[in-house]
Amino acid sequence: MHLHLRSLALIALLGSAPVWAQSATTVEIFKSPSCDCCGKWIAHMQKNGFKVETHEVDDIPASRKKLGMPDKLGSCHTSKIGNYVVEGHVPAQDIKRLLKEKPKALGLAIPSMPPGVPGMDIPNSPPYETLLVQADGSTSVFAKH
Ligand code: CU
Ligand code: CU
Repeated sequence: MHLHLRSLALIALLGSAPVWAQSATTVEIFKSPSCDCCGKWIAHMQKNGFKVETHEVDDIPASRKKLGMPDKLGSCHTSKIGNYVVEGHVPAQDIKRLLKEKPKALGLAIPSMPPGVPGMDIPNSPPYETLLVQADGSTSVFAKH
């Protein structure tokens, strides 16, 4: 009887969710089915501990508009991460910083697809900037790479 109770307790212990396990932040990405560089950015995010939920859509500008990201800052894909909108090939380290510092903003953007961003990797990449975007569409430099 004694042993039996102990094994039951052990089963209960193993079955409970470990309290130290941090739930991964989910990236909800909207991309076109044919986008190849989007897939490479997804792999970059997964490698950096994010969980990615992919929505294949044909109309990226429509998704962008729905999320409130101005068209002038547009790239090949748009994402929703926590309460923020992230446009384009933004490095995971910038997104981690955004989620930690929680500035008042719509989110981050790297307009277009400059060479050297994650998913558009080239050797000796030229410098590029990540922009912090406000709800009114105004921007400031968030990070220089
Ligand atoms: Cu791209
Ligand atoms: Cu993309």
